[in-house]
Amino acid sequence: MKKIAILCSGGDVSGMNAALKRFVEYAIDKDMQPFFVHNGYEGLIDGQIYEAGYSDVAGIISIGGTKIRTSRSERFKEASYRKQALENLKARGINSLMVLGGDGSFKGMQKLADESTDISFIGIPSTIDNDIAGTQYCLGVDTALNGIRVSIDAIRDTASSFGRAFVIEVMGRECGYLALVSALTSGAEMCLIPEIPYDLSNYKRDFLQEKEEGRSYFIAVISEALKKSREISQWFEEEIGVESRVTVLGHVQRGGIPTVHDRLMAFHFVTTGMEALLSGTKSAVVCYNKGTFVCKPIEKVAFRKYYIDDDLLELGREFESKQHNPGIISKKGY
Ligand code: ADP
Ligand code: F6P
Repeated sequence: MKKIAILCSGGDVSGMNAALKRFVEYAIDKDMQPFFVHNGYEGLIDGQIYEAGYSDVAGIISIGGTKIRTSRSERFKEASYRKQALENLKARGINSLMVLGGDGSFKGMQKLADESTDISFIGIPSTIDNDIAGTQYCLGVDTALNGIRVSIDAIRDTASSFGRAFVIEVMGRECGYLALVSALTSGAEMCLIPEIPYDLSNYKRDFLQEKEEGRSYFIAVISEALKKSREISQWFEEEIGVESRVTVLGHVQRGGIPTVHDRLMAFHFVTTGMEALLSGTKSAVVCYNKGTFVCKPIEKVAFRKYYIDDDLLELGREFESKQHNPGIISKKGY
């Protein structure tokens, strides 16, 4: 019987539990024996590997985070610990490993694959940052975006009541995807991300004009990568003359009930990955592009820079250019 294990690595995302459920049910259906590795690569090194069954995944589809826990493992970066991890899999007769994680987790998976001849590896992109090259979507992004949207909508209530500026710092590591989509979909006045150069003097000219026309509050969404939230808040107070607050959304963005989209994406990602393993794929990452799921070699996914789609970036550039188009501003009417 084929024995197959799954682990979660790096930042958790909502939808991982849905993926675990699909993994166990698909494996049993295909006469494979499913195993859970607890605590990510740390647990793989320490042999925390347990057989899984239907009862382990009952009732978890609606819960965020990951039932089998995750970790970041410094030890795993050392070859001697990866050797130990491989031996733990071999000792149990496990011949396939599915890894739910981000770019870093896939770099680690690639090393394991290079160091092993008889085990197959498949990665499922799972990070709220949506920063993995080769795939337009990573598990957990939709839930994170919806969570951020709820927070920004709530902040708008108090911002408009007080007539304040709010600088809202959004996660994403080095990638501005979460901030950009959140700013676009919550009607923010300003969006600053590392991928789009900006000129504060343009914003200043237009915000002052808007203030004159009656605007009393501003919502600015800023990527954590810029590390400029305090500075921009001070800029609102000193240059725009409006009281300002900073809200760092932080880890609330990583949790919460997985959306329908993430549950469905978990289903498709895992199914595609399991099919690839059954058809003899040795090492790959499941990617999603334009409605299609395909497996790509790890080196085409990890070790590469992710670029936000041009059409989305184009919309992001409008934040600044729209502001200094007087025709648009005068039509706003506050
Ligand atoms: P993510 O997978 O979300 O990008 P991390 O970058 O923290 O998260 O990576 C998760 C784990 O993957 C790390 O803690 C480490 O165990 C492993 N990893 C990351 N980069 C490497 C690497 N270059 N070599 C081996 N393992 C790595
Ligand atoms: O990669 C996911 C992520 O949530 C990033 O957006 C963020 O910068 C980082 O992880 C936070 O890491 P930690 O949970 O270790 O503080």
